[in-house]
Order: sequence, then structure tokens, then C-alpha cells
Amino acid sequence: MKTCIHHFRVIIAATLFTLAMALPTTAATVKLTIEADNPGLPISRYIYGQFAEHLGRGIYEGIWVGEDSPIPNTNGFRDDVIDALKELQIPVIRWPGGCFADEYNWRDGIGPRDQRPVKVNNHWGGVEETNAFGTHEFFDLVEMLGADAYIAGNLGSGSPREMAEWLEYMTSDTASTLANLRRKNGRDKPWKVAFWGVGNETWGCGGNMRPEFYADLYRQFATFLKSPEGNRPKKVASGGYDIHTNWTETLSSMVEGNMDGISHHYYTIPTGEWSAKGKSTGFPEKEWISTLFNTMKIDEFIKLNKAVLEKNDPEGKIGLYLDEWGTWYDPEPGREPGFLYQQNTLRDALVAAINFNIFHKHTDRVRMANIAQTVNVLQAMILTDKDKMIMTPTYHVFHMYKPFQDSTFIPIEFRNMPTYKHADYSVPMLTASAAKDKDGNLVLALVNLDPHNNATVMTRVEGDSAKSATGRLLTAPKMDSLNSFDAPNAVRPVSYKSADSKDGQLVLDIPAKSVLVVTIK
Ligand code: AHR
Repeated sequence: MKTCIHHFRVIIAATLFTLAMALPTTAATVKLTIEADNPGLPISRYIYGQFAEHLGRGIYEGIWVGEDSPIPNTNGFRDDVIDALKELQIPVIRWPGGCFADEYNWRDGIGPRDQRPVKVNNHWGGVEETNAFGTHEFFDLVEMLGADAYIAGNLGSGSPREMAEWLEYMTSDTASTLANLRRKNGRDKPWKVAFWGVGNETWGCGGNMRPEFYADLYRQFATFLKSPEGNRPKKVASGGYDIHTNWTETLSSMVEGNMDGISHHYYTIPTGEWSAKGKSTGFPEKEWISTLFNTMKIDEFIKLNKAVLEKNDPEGKIGLYLDEWGTWYDPEPGREPGFLYQQNTLRDALVAAINFNIFHKHTDRVRMANIAQTVNVLQAMILTDKDKMIMTPTYHVFHMYKPFQDSTFIPIEFRNMPTYKHADYSVPMLTASAAKDKDGNLVLALVNLDPHNNATVMTRVEGDSAKSATGRLLTAPKMDSLNSFDAPNAVRPVSYKSADSKDGQLVLDIPAKSVLVVTIK
């Protein structure tokens, strides 16, 4: 009997605990001022860029299935994925890598597909690379999506001549042999090349170089990158990663001119340990908060690198291009580890939104960012399984943030910001960003990092009236709620309308663990 009562008590206690964990409790009240009368700099649309590498099922199956595939396609591109990507208004796509780029020979990917050489993708799973997707297919993709092209050239194992000839092949309108080869392969007019990366991660997979050695190579390779006036890509040097500033320091002091940007990479790893990164689903709350905490570190990394650029390039000619960012988890059980396929949950949605809110603050230097990667790899927009596909929570955040593309930054200020604490971590409960969109509308994005508590944000707009806010809210029951092939719409945005304004302030109720984007009228 005693055992039975004890058992009963344990069940009640456990049930109450579960309920307490599952149900949002109190609503914190926070004050937010939007300084609409004090606009800042433009927020470049390129901050919403993508990165698509020849890696796992990122290109093959994810985007390209070939004309003979039973999966519905147009000229080899799968229709479902292209239709979904079109909705994102993608401004730029970086290709073909990544680490793949520094082993890629562009001549393998042109001409009749049945005559293209089959190579080995040494970086990613040692699988066959058929080269069915090459330069022409990439430009078909960017043209279908209305995006700009960002080519990552091979510096690590290629030569200045190969890199220069690839650019000539793409951009020359003369009767040169290379331009005629392009025409013979089906493209008459040159393509527009907006950005050109001179190598990738040259500190690692791109050649294991020291910054000084690479700076000299950059100068050499960039010298020969020539294209007609009006079609000159911005040139991007391969920079550093994480907290490091030495690559930015060396490149911005050793390269005079001929460099529009320096890249910087930062991946969010829940545990902070590459050897045991943490799982994409089924993670404890400690890894929810550590993931968000580690994401927010990028603010500091950007500031440190900006300070170097302010010193060495006070005129602001050199941009900081965050051309790889996003979450990186342990491989999914049963999947090829080299394919970097991972699930994508509500946590990833918050990671994306937090990053955007940070990038917006730094658009004086952060002129591009490219999430890694578009389909089936790392923090993907889309996951596919043969003929099925799903849009991830991250996809929905990119969609919700579309009004920020080419908007104007508006400063904001919070008061009474509560702290969300768990285990050894502590982060602000909310992050936010405001802007005037291209049509002059005031947009506001808010993220509630706390998985248990709702927030009420009393919002005052300086220099503008604010009567209502409408938009979309993304949240879900669990920290690791996700979209699966059986339940593809489990996590998706819903319509949102603010409560009535009170004393000239908008009342915005933000549920626990959510992302909100609204237009304020
Ligand atoms: O995005 C996956 C890989 O991460 C890229 O190929 C490389 O540049 C980085 O290390």
C-alpha cells in the first residue's frame, strides 16, 4: 500500500513537472522603442544568400535529378524544389563549394553530359562525381531563381590560368576560342558573374596555408581575373573563421586594392566540440540554450573583424562576407557521415532568425552571408527523400524575413530585458531587428529564446504612429519539433495580429520559443 501511494505521488509529481515544462508560465513584460526617426544603413539582400556545394545529396537528388528521372523535372531540375526556392527570393548562390571547389576542374563540367569525366568527390564521402551538374546547369539554376552567381574558384589545386579561363568562358563576348566553346555548348550570351571567391578555407581544406602565403597567392590569382567592363565580379578573398582575426588582419594589410571582400566562416555547434557536436533532434534543454548562446557569439566575431577593417580600411572598401554559417550537428544515425545530412527543427529556425538580427546591425561591413547549405546539407532550407520534399523551419524563417532584403536598418532599444538561464548558460530572452522595407513599411522581427515563458513587448515607435502589427509567427510544441515527410507542415508560420495599442504603445504577445515578423502600421 505504502509503495502504491509513493508510486502515485511520483506519478503526480512527474506529471506536474512535465506540464510545467510544456506549458508556458508567466509572461514577462518588456519595453521596446523603435527609432523610426533615426534610420541607419541599407540591409543588403545578399545577407539572405545561399550556398550549394557538390556534397551528399545537396546538388544531385536535391536540385538536379536529370531529364530522365521519374521525379517531375524541367530540364533535369526537380520542379518541387525549384518552385519552393523561387518563393524565397534568393539573391545569390555560392557554388560549387566549399572544400569541393578547391579540387574542382571546371572543364570537367561542360560539354555533352555523357562525355563528361567521372571523378571522385574526395572531400565528401569519396563518391562518384559525374559532373552532370556543371557551369551551364549552375547558371540555369540562378537564372530560374532570379539570383546572382557567386563562383568559388579553385586556388588550392588549380592554377591562375585555369581560374582566369573559367571567368573568360563565362563572361567573354568576343570570338575567343573559350567564348566560342561556351556557344558550342549552348550558351550564346555571356553570363553575369556578380561575385568571385579566390579559393575557400585556404587555412584548411583549401590548401593548409598561412595567411601571408595566401595573401601573396590572392594577389597573383586576382591579377589574372579579367572580364569585360560591366561584368566584373566582386572579388572575395578566403578569410578566417570563428573568433580569429589574423586572416582579416593579414589580407587587409597585405592586399592593396583588387579585393572587395574577405570571407569569414562560423558554424554553430551545440556543444562547441567538433568531436561530439550534439544531435539535431532529441537534444536536452542544455543544448537548446547552448546552441542559441553559441549562435550569438557571431556578434562578437563580427565586431572583432570589423575593428580590424576599420583600422586597415577606414574608407570601407572591403566587406566582410559571412559566406558559410549555420548549425552543424553529429551525423544522423544510419546516414553517410560524409554527406552532412541533418534534421532541422524549431531550434534551427531560431538560430537563423538570431543570426539575421545580428547581421542587420553590421551591414556597414557585412555585405553578404550564405547559409550552409540550400538542400539536404547542414542547416538546409529543403530536405528531400526521393520524390518527396519538405520545407524546413529554417526555410520558413527565410521566407518570413523577405521584407528585410534591401531594407533600411532602424535602431531599436529594449528595456527590462529578462534573462533566460539554464544549466551554465544565460542569454537575453528576446532579440529583435527593425527596418523600413523597400515600400517604406516598418517591419519588426522578434525572437523569443525562452522555451517556457511568453513575453509581452510594449512597443513604441518614435517619429511614427503605430496602431497595429500584422504578420506571421513561427512556433511549435517542442524545442525539436520538425517537419517530416509524413507531416510536412507540422512547423509552419501562422497569421499574427497584435493586440490593440495601449497608451500609444503596441502590445505584442510573443509565445515561448518563437519567431515573429510583423509589419507595423
Ligand atoms: O559546408 C561544409 C564545409 O564546411 C565546406 O565545404 C567548407 O568550406 C567548410 O569547412
